[in-house]
Amino acid sequence: MSFKTRKPQLFIETYGCQMNIADSEVVAAILIAHGYELTNDVNSADLVLINTCSVRDNAEQRVWNRLDFFRGHKKRKPNVKVGIIGCMAKRVGEKLLEHPAVDIVAGPDSYRDMPMLIDKALSGSKGIDIEQSEVETYSGIVPERVADGSVCGFVSIMRGCNNFCTYCIVPYTRGRERSRDTKDIINEIKSLINSGYREVTLLGQNVNSYNWTDENREINFPKLVEMIATIDPNFRVRFTTSHPKDISDELIEVIAKYSNVCKHIHLPVQAGSNAVLELMNRKYTREYYLDRVKKIRTLIPDCSLTTDVFCGFSGETEQDFQQTLELMREVEFDSAFMFKYSERPGTYAAKKLPDDVPEEVKVKRLTEIISLQNKISKKRNQADVGKTFEVLVEGCSKKSDKDMFGRTSQNKVVVFPNNGTKIGDFVKVKIVSASSATLIGVVS
Ligand code: 5AD
Ligand code: SF4
Repeated sequence: MSFKTRKPQLFIETYGCQMNIADSEVVAAILIAHGYELTNDVNSADLVLINTCSVRDNAEQRVWNRLDFFRGHKKRKPNVKVGIIGCMAKRVGEKLLEHPAVDIVAGPDSYRDMPMLIDKALSGSKGIDIEQSEVETYSGIVPERVADGSVCGFVSIMRGCNNFCTYCIVPYTRGRERSRDTKDIINEIKSLINSGYREVTLLGQNVNSYNWTDENREINFPKLVEMIATIDPNFRVRFTTSHPKDISDELIEVIAKYSNVCKHIHLPVQAGSNAVLELMNRKYTREYYLDRVKKIRTLIPDCSLTTDVFCGFSGETEQDFQQTLELMREVEFDSAFMFKYSERPGTYAAKKLPDDVPEEVKVKRLTEIISLQNKISKKRNQADVGKTFEVLVEGCSKKSDKDMFGRTSQNKVVVFPNNGTKIGDFVKVKIVSASSATLIGVVS
């Protein structure tokens, strides 16, 4: 008689940015090589990993609440091990081990150590590794694509950040900036294409400072994008995030030149007042930002622009805040991620700049930002009504299985009646109506 041994089951829950999704795929690859199998069902998991974000306090609070859930879960299933990985693991460290649900803590540079940390947890002690590395890029690890059946993949091209915006925890949790070998990136993308993917998003905290010297050639970000765009003209490329100070004319020209380089730039402005931008150490002015926007719109008239913006940073006056609203009205972003300032322990701002905008003022300002942006997004989307876009079909609409959804090159979600199109097809869709979040169309 032969027994089929059940492989230990791994469940990964990912919070925060797209970079974390890519990191979860690296962790999955490492653990699959050590005999694990991925599961979508937390109840059948032997090992639960929570990949966390530290960028705002509420992201961490959500994880603490989740840990309280896993405390109960482990009472029912005492053999399950739980690990906290990612930025919160790095920032909070040892204190996480005090929570009864936590067995393993691993920072963003410690994923190769996961098998050792798990062994430690299995032998009854707790495992922690939050060492930072100057060089780790997970070279040689081919990420395990977690989102099965998806046609849009993510490839991280660099790790870390050197910018030290005064409010931001990322340089402390993810460490110094380092680029990945161009060859590894190209190989990963070719393997995505061979497995049926139709689009890749290149990821980095500041993709514009990508830099790799290959034999005798220096490859900067525009060159990398050009290399990827020319692999297959029917494979789309997008990227995030671009720091406004580094977005070069050369890059804008590459986006304009290739039809498969998506006409969308995510360009976080953060604030509209020069005094606030300076305190944030953003290294550009409002005028410089507006000049970049003008350049983009001149060279790529159909380019969409999105942003990150937050209110309530140290010393932000009502006048400063009005300048943020004014800038948003002037640029008319297609959409935005909007936040209120959350002081992060360990940052320059936490040490030197008082968190002096009262909470109720932050809330009121954020409400104003959101309400303004909703109006602008709706206006921008309604300007697309009557136009036809090429849409990459990504799946069935969540609301109705009679409808499909996909995204335009501008990264706008389009829902349209299913007329036999398949996931992965590029179809021409004529837009017939629009809300602030979605375009509705018909295949033309
Ligand atoms: N408080 C609020 N928002 C923040 N961000 C980064 N740090 C903070 C903070 N301490 C926002 C910025 C950044 C996005 C990822 O999160 O807008 O671009
Ligand atoms: Fe944080 Fe600034 Fe780096 Fe973005 S560029 S990750 S906001 S420090």
